[in-house]
Amino acid sequence: MELPTPGRDRGPAGALRLAPSVLSADFGMLAQEVAEVEPFADWLHVDVMDGHFVPNVTIGPPVVASLRRHTSLFFDCHLMMTEPHRYLEAFADAGADGCTVHVEVGGTDELIEQMRALGLRAGLALNPDTPFDAVEPYLHAIDLVLCMTVFPGFGGQDFIWEVMPKVTQVRAAVAARGLDVDVEVDGGIDTITAPVAASAGANVFVAGSAIFGHERPWESADAIRAAVRASAEAGPPRR
Ligand code: DX5
Ligand code: ZN
Repeated sequence: MELPTPGRDRGPAGALRLAPSVLSADFGMLAQEVAEVEPFADWLHVDVMDGHFVPNVTIGPPVVASLRRHTSLFFDCHLMMTEPHRYLEAFADAGADGCTVHVEVGGTDELIEQMRALGLRAGLALNPDTPFDAVEPYLHAIDLVLCMTVFPGFGGQDFIWEVMPKVTQVRAAVAARGLDVDVEVDGGIDTITAPVAASAGANVFVAGSAIFGHERPWESADAIRAAVRASAEAGPPRR
């Protein structure tokens, strides 16, 4: 039986969203791990790796469908796949709310169209060395830009600070055009780097090891949110 889904939060775009990444959770106890952080999370980030686009292999639609029965969190599925078009429908059927595909794989117009037709929130991801120009033509057609702050494939890597100017470029373009587009960062996000990314223009923060790598993951999630809020209250960084 499908759970009621009042908590499946689709917006508003631009608001602070904390998205724990299950990649760093204990896969043998996924439902329990997710239940622990659910009150402190806005979205659940689900990393899908195909062994081609990235060297690692993780989870697919059956696991998403199983998790769907245990939580009403918005599922933010990050598809690190060379052929996402083959799986988008299966993810939508499994209960994904948003899917994000990488611009590097090409066929972006068709992928956006497919995500829209499936009723998914549509995201485009950029690797750290992919320039803003690669996503610029699609901004009007999508709901989210994911700026990777590590090279995709594994949790627990160091945040790449050099991505911050691109985050600012994306945010500025979204604001200049008056678009409802979220700007998400993913990789190496913790209480130190999340406020930096927020100042650069990010509003969705994915964190794996900084949350699930700790004994009380809910406290870690809360600490990241508090760090972002505190930096917002303190205003823009002094130059
Ligand atoms: C990396 C994944 C990330 C990963 C982040 O390829 O896309 O979502 O879970 O992990 P941390 O937060 O540990 O860098
Ligand atoms: Zn991810």
